[in-house]
Amino acid sequence: MSQKIQIDQNRLFAELTKLSSFTHVEPSPDGTAVTRVVFTPDDLEARAWLRGIAEAEGFTVRVDPVGNTFFRMEGTDPSLPAVATGSHADAIPHAGMYDGTVGVIGGLEAMRALKQAGIRPKRAIETILFTSEEPTRFGIGCLGSRLMSGTLSPEKADALKDADDRTLAEVRTAAGFAGDLADVKLAPGHYSAFVELHIEQGPLLERAGEQIGIVTSIAAPASYRFQIQGLGGHAGALLMPDRRDALCAASELILSIERHALTIGTIDSVATVGTCDVYPGAVNSVPSRVALMLDIRDTDPARRDAIMAAVRADIMEIQTKRGVAISESLVNADAPATSSAAIVDALEAICLREGMLYRKMVSRAYHDTLFMASVAPVSMIFIPCRGGVSHRPDEFSTAEDIARGTLLLAEVLAKVGSD
Ligand code: GLV
Ligand code: MN
Ligand code: MN
Ligand code: MN
Repeated sequence: MSQKIQIDQNRLFAELTKLSSFTHVEPSPDGTAVTRVVFTPDDLEARAWLRGIAEAEGFTVRVDPVGNTFFRMEGTDPSLPAVATGSHADAIPHAGMYDGTVGVIGGLEAMRALKQAGIRPKRAIETILFTSEEPTRFGIGCLGSRLMSGTLSPEKADALKDADDRTLAEVRTAAGFAGDLADVKLAPGHYSAFVELHIEQGPLLERAGEQIGIVTSIAAPASYRFQIQGLGGHAGALLMPDRRDALCAASELILSIERHALTIGTIDSVATVGTCDVYPGAVNSVPSRVALMLDIRDTDPARRDAIMAAVRADIMEIQTKRGVAISESLVNADAPATSSAAIVDALEAICLREGMLYRKMVSRAYHDTLFMASVAPVSMIFIPCRGGVSHRPDEFSTAEDIARGTLLLAEVLAKVGSD
């Protein structure tokens, strides 16, 4: 006999709080700051602790060569592809405690709640802990799901380097994740559905007093590296008319990027230069070389490309005017993802039945779902976060909102697990 699905809100919140203690930084005055970079001791300890929760519940655990970890509850028909949920547990420097983690702890809680209620769908259910959704260490986001979807080749992935010039191959092996990355790729039809629970990371739900966002599409992200080569020299002796200052040229480039993202005229176009390395980095030395990283996203990839074309025209001018050389290299340019109409309908029907206030919406942040969309029908569940704040220590969602999102997740997994 199955009973009503019940989410243990206190356990959920206690586990999220515990997970936030696996961090490289001390709690900050403006919130619980978390830094958990892939394959550092903090990340490995968090993984081991999550694994312990799953094993205590009797879920089986599979770990692939890049460290993606799959917690599985069997269904009644082993011949059918499983359904899956999950998210990431890595956190950018000085982040909050909810980004990603809500979807991992929420996935495990949804599986436990189904088990507790005596609901065992035909299909197995898996919660996936994805490796390195954040680009912090290896410069590219969604490392685990990119490899699962075959979007990134195993050779390119293993050759990626961190700031200490260590390759992914080296770092993952040292962390205990060995084997051929080619084995990470999922066979077509491996999962029949994938649904990720995540905080909104934007203000729309909270502003409208809504409880749930049903994601219908995910904007297309891209990132580029720029290297600006100028001429260095003594900050006192190199005369102003003779300068080819790489940082001044980089500043013009940054402002060009901002101008074109703004003037293209849609709120769906966003561009950010988030890193700037200045060489040699001394107050009394004219910068000779600058490296920048640009993150640019749009719901329409053609518009994203149009912004880049306008920036490249400005680059020609900046080079001539300032006597510098600017080179560009692509890190990634991904396609947008569209949710499955059937999963969106299923989510909507549950919201209506349970009296959850919802809206359908676009995700402007990227998620592992962006890549899972190329191997399975997908959607996402968003819950509100205070002030729309994310990637900051003061990121916050209420226990009630997290529990509500988790209940919706459990309900939809039961539904798609029975289809
Ligand atoms: C990933 O966290 C993103 O930047 O959307
Ligand atoms: Mn993030
Ligand atoms: Mn995230
Ligand atoms: Mn993200």
